[in-house]
Amino acid sequence: MKLTLSVIKADIGGYVGHSSSHPDLLEAGEKWMAKAKKSGFLIDYHVTRCGDDLQLIMTHQHGEDNEKVHKLAWDTFVDCTNIAKKLKLHGAGQDMLSDAFSGNVKGMGPGVAEMEIEERAAETIIIFMADKTASGAWNLPLYKIFADPFNTIGLVIASNMHSGFSFEVHDVKESKKIVFNTPEEIYDMLVFIGAPSRFAVKNVYHRESGQIAAASSTQRLSRMAGRYVGKDDPVCIIRSQGHFPAVGEILEPFAHPHIVEGWMRGSHNGPLMPVAVRDSNPSRFDGPPRVIAAGFQLSDGKLVGPRDMFDDVAFDKARDEANVIANILRNQGPFEPHRLPLDEMEYTTMPEVMNKLKGRFKKI
Ligand code: F6R
Ligand code: MG
Ligand code: MG
Repeated sequence: MKLTLSVIKADIGGYVGHSSSHPDLLEAGEKWMAKAKKSGFLIDYHVTRCGDDLQLIMTHQHGEDNEKVHKLAWDTFVDCTNIAKKLKLHGAGQDMLSDAFSGNVKGMGPGVAEMEIEERAAETIIIFMADKTASGAWNLPLYKIFADPFNTIGLVIASNMHSGFSFEVHDVKESKKIVFNTPEEIYDMLVFIGAPSRFAVKNVYHRESGQIAAASSTQRLSRMAGRYVGKDDPVCIIRSQGHFPAVGEILEPFAHPHIVEGWMRGSHNGPLMPVAVRDSNPSRFDGPPRVIAAGFQLSDGKLVGPRDMFDDVAFDKARDEANVIANILRNQGPFEPHRLPLDEMEYTTMPEVMNKLKGRFKKI
């Protein structure tokens, strides 16, 4: 059966500050989704949140980039924005960059990851959702999951994965894309994806079958709006088991937190901490950045789940490690590399301060 999985998310107001989501927004999201399911437009849905981002996980048969599916998400976010405004939540409607819907939510603020698949006899999927970070945050884990044999032993000892995966990489500054075949092009690919503020992995494909293995949201909100409007807080869908990596191979990169951009005022580097949904409330210095993972089995498009995949004591050490890294970085206060390089910061006073002091700079 052909099936589309759409994950569309937006920060439409934080509670308290940017730390978490108000239950009324989740309830409203649930109502819109339930109505669409009842009418038969959606096969199934799951509404959740990561920090201050509302996440709509939908299954349907309308294909990717479908105007009606995107409109449903848009209308849901507009309604939630109105509730957020009434409650005077912080940053109500933050990610709604446009006043009116124009056919597709891409480029309008909300984040989107979608994939059309032929549902397998057992279709295992993991949906990662992050808060207080940018879309390039998936580069390192996607590399480890689909190209690093130290992480994914299946690449070595499972014959159905041995011919590798291909990566579609987007240049988010110049709006260009390129496909790399791994393992043979790993060194070339790493030149690009090792610079995640500019190059982001959009899709991954199983080479032998050509099937989609992973899809992420790669928009950069700040570039769309031309000003700071919040971090992308990206999402990523990954298929698992069989000729795709096992669940444990997909979760393994998060056992050691990697450092991502985001955190306070979208202007700092910090560890990406894997947590259960209930713990996705980035509060310490508005962070550290969080990632949650919702696991499902699909059954004729029905979302059987979720299992809260990081709600596991085996990730306690990763959380401890993230707190240790957070302390080390916080000790550096306003100094790089805790603070982002000048042109990557989402907030800056540089032009005005430079202007104020320009007469005091002397040639050396
Ligand atoms: C980071 C983030 C927060 C805010 C900070 C200031 O992505 O959302 O760290 O940047 O709380 O928020 P404003 O400017 O909305 O008061
Ligand atoms: Mg926010
Ligand atoms: Mg957010």
